Amino acid sequence: MGFIGSGYIGSALARLAIEAGHRVVLSNSRGPETLADTVADLGPRASAATSGEAAAAGDIVVVTVPVKATVTEFIESIGYGVVDAGPLADSWRQATGTPVWGTPYGPYSNEKGRPVD
Ligand SMILES: NC(=O)c1ccc[n+]([C@@H]2O[C@H](COP(=O)([O-])OP(=O)(O)OC[C@H]3O[C@@H](n4cnc5c(N)ncnc54)[C@H](OP(=O)(O)O)[C@@H]3O)[C@@H](O)[C@H]2O)c1
Repeated sequence: MGFIGSGYIGSALARLAIEAGHRVVLSNSRGPETLADTVADLGPRASAATSGEAAAAGDIVVVTVPVKATVTEFIESIGYGVVDAGPLADSWRQATGTPVWGTPYGPYSNEKGRPVD
């Protein structure tokens, strides 16, 4: 199993996978050398690599990274700003038909927006 993200969740899953007989390849954002203690703790069925190598190594790839930061970075990289609208329990605040819905595509003068082609 390849792990992208080896924090609380990733390392706990890796331990369970090892106990079930799997080999694991861990990775994080800072590089494999920073996972030396974790790998030593998990034993000989564990190793560390870059995220790309971990993804390639596993028949199963587990991604346990802080999603909000990763998604925010991606959305900003394609030219949009991210507004945190709160947790799922607060999603009623942005229900269809309420003012929080802005113009998704096209100029702001077009209140209905323009569908994607
Ligand atoms: N912990 C919980 O109880 C819990 C419960 C439910 C859900 N979750 C969710 O599960 C996910 C993981 O939580 P966690 O507690 O395991 O987080 P964590 O302990 O902070 O670990 C995050 C891991 O992701 C790595 N990472 C971050 N950005 C990366 C990138 N771009 N490429 C590769 N690796 C990257 C970090 O590496 P570096 O340290 O090198 O940056 C670290 O190993 C989060 O989305 C969290 O919201 C956690």
